[in-house]
Amino acid sequence: MTPSTPSTLSTPATPVGSGLTPRDHFLFGGDYNPEQWDAATRAEDVELMLRAGVDTATVGVFAWSWLEPAEGHYEFGWLDEVFERLHAAGIGVVLATPTASPPPWFTLAHPDALPVQPDGSRHTHGSRDTYAISAPAYRDACRRIARALAERYGTHPALRGWHIHNEYGSLDHSDHAAAAFRRWLKRRYGTLEELNRCWGTAFWSQRYGDWAEILPPRQTQYMHNPTHALDFRRCTADEFRDAYAEQVAEIRAAGSTAAATTNFMLPSWNHLDHWSWRPHLDAVSIDHYLDTTGPSGETHVAYAGDLARSWAGGHPWLLMEQGTTQIALGDRHAHKAPDRVLRNTLSYLARGSQGALFFQWRASAAGSETWHGGMVPHTGPDTARFESVVELGATLRRLAEAAEPPTEGPVVDADVAILWEADGWWALENDGLPSDRLGFPEAVRRTHAALWRSGIPADFVPADADLSGYRVLLVPSMMPVSAELAERWQQFTAAGGTVVIGYFTGMTDERLHVVRGGYPGALRDLLGIRTTELHPLATGEHVRLSDGTPTTHWSEHIELRGAEAELSYADGPLDGLPAVTRHPVGAGHAWYVSTHLPDDTLRRFLDDICSRSGVTPTVAGLPDGVEAVRRRGRDHTYLFVLNHGTSALHLTGGERELTRDTDLTAEPVRVPPRGVAVVRENTKPVRVETAY
Ligand code: GLA
Repeated sequence: MTPSTPSTLSTPATPVGSGLTPRDHFLFGGDYNPEQWDAATRAEDVELMLRAGVDTATVGVFAWSWLEPAEGHYEFGWLDEVFERLHAAGIGVVLATPTASPPPWFTLAHPDALPVQPDGSRHTHGSRDTYAISAPAYRDACRRIARALAERYGTHPALRGWHIHNEYGSLDHSDHAAAAFRRWLKRRYGTLEELNRCWGTAFWSQRYGDWAEILPPRQTQYMHNPTHALDFRRCTADEFRDAYAEQVAEIRAAGSTAAATTNFMLPSWNHLDHWSWRPHLDAVSIDHYLDTTGPSGETHVAYAGDLARSWAGGHPWLLMEQGTTQIALGDRHAHKAPDRVLRNTLSYLARGSQGALFFQWRASAAGSETWHGGMVPHTGPDTARFESVVELGATLRRLAEAAEPPTEGPVVDADVAILWEADGWWALENDGLPSDRLGFPEAVRRTHAALWRSGIPADFVPADADLSGYRVLLVPSMMPVSAELAERWQQFTAAGGTVVIGYFTGMTDERLHVVRGGYPGALRDLLGIRTTELHPLATGEHVRLSDGTPTTHWSEHIELRGAEAELSYADGPLDGLPAVTRHPVGAGHAWYVSTHLPDDTLRRFLDDICSRSGVTPTVAGLPDGVEAVRRRGRDHTYLFVLNHGTSALHLTGGERELTRDTDLTAEPVRVPPRGVAVVRENTKPVRVETAY
């Protein structure tokens, strides 16, 4: 498409403010990259969007070279036209700042703003995300383009909100990164003496005598210093957040009050400290792509949705991207059927999303993502796929009343909290750990999945969370635990809470220093145990527990110091010694699980913990493979029932089924295999049974 001359823009309207999380309906649409298409296709786009009930288009995500084809030379005409056309059709625009993909002219002029890999090689232009987040020229260019866009479109009536950048996450080890790192370290430690102490540089002759000697953890001969590596992750995460905040500041300075967000990428990227973004975001938004087929895909969706709601402090959030047709499995792809798109979408909505947006509106016919699905497939609108998109839009409209959030409290109630901290993840990515089978995301995700299978809702919480509203705190993995954090968990337990600590948690303090005298460091008193020796299990090795369960990955030599053994090791060198312990603390209990329980055992164990703590599933007695999530609305609660199984369901109780617009007080509903129901609840409890 050729950039055209600027057109006259509409008169500025009232600020949109909450445009990314509307209260009266769910947003529907996706990334729209019109710069790929000719005029006829662009005209058809709007026609098809209207047919599908699309009301939101995310525009400009990778359009920098179209918006600023040469430094300081802007071409807004084509975007004016897009705004006008969408606005005339009543379609709102989420306007992206295009800073995830600097144009070729920029990187040619500023090669120092290309990211450097740990091995010292510099990425070249030719893909996207080739930026060094700390490079001054890059940050200046980002501020300029954000300002220019805000001055032009910041008060446009079609503007729903700002989508800053795209999936912050390119790591850089350049000299700019080194300079930013040194600034960050000076703020954190004040003196080199303190830095040397915290990093443990006395060992291996790593002592720093000048700040200039400190580098990012680039490729080196053997293991990195772990605290050095962890601090670099923390610093880079702060750089991303600062870069975001700078763009928002430009947008505000230009007079735009529209809501701002950036799309967090889940679940494999761990480049951000998500909790720390809360004060900077007007709405939390995420991108989520299934990376697994089968039922574990459904637990994956739930994991993403619960994380997003938790990052949003229990408030509504926005699903900025999901895929229409494919499941990404590393170097392979699997087909995603429309019924799965519907169930996944409703799972996000049930967990608090205010909409369902996709990447991307129309599948590209050329370029890097040619084979990524779209809402309009290559084959065109006369396809079952596009019809399913139209049907999905209609379903979302039928659910509109459920979009109204509660006047008070979270959009989903949960009694169980799961600790989720970037520090815990980064710490386990370090070299030199006693096992290479200690995975943070694996531990957290399987714990969440075990609860999902039992229909028990959960929130994720940061280390400094107020835990008073929860009955159970699960800490599947958190290697660094400060004395302050241990004290919080102690207080939570003493006040009647149940805390369950997974192995290798609390092995060090927040500097990654071992608290000597017995593992797990600061948690010994809380857990009433002392681990004297670690017994990692190699791949293929297992030990049996006293109830016959074979466990893997890890074991420990535990001495009881007030706790009781609920399960013991029943063979191997730890035969007869405690494996799972419970320690009464005040009015509550602190549990320690020193080994890797198989999935089914973990589920039964957590079921038992929950029932002892008075935590019940959302709907009792759900058939296997059925998910039920209660979303709180302003005047009602809504039960989302998602049948991932192969048997039909018989659903009774409740007031109205919204997807079918059926009066449930008059007749029950049959939910077919892979079907859904959304029930406006009343005092008559909803029952979900297999239909025979
Ligand atoms: C990410 C990006 C999109 C697109 C999708 C495809 O989420 O934000 O631009 O590349 O992945 O999976």
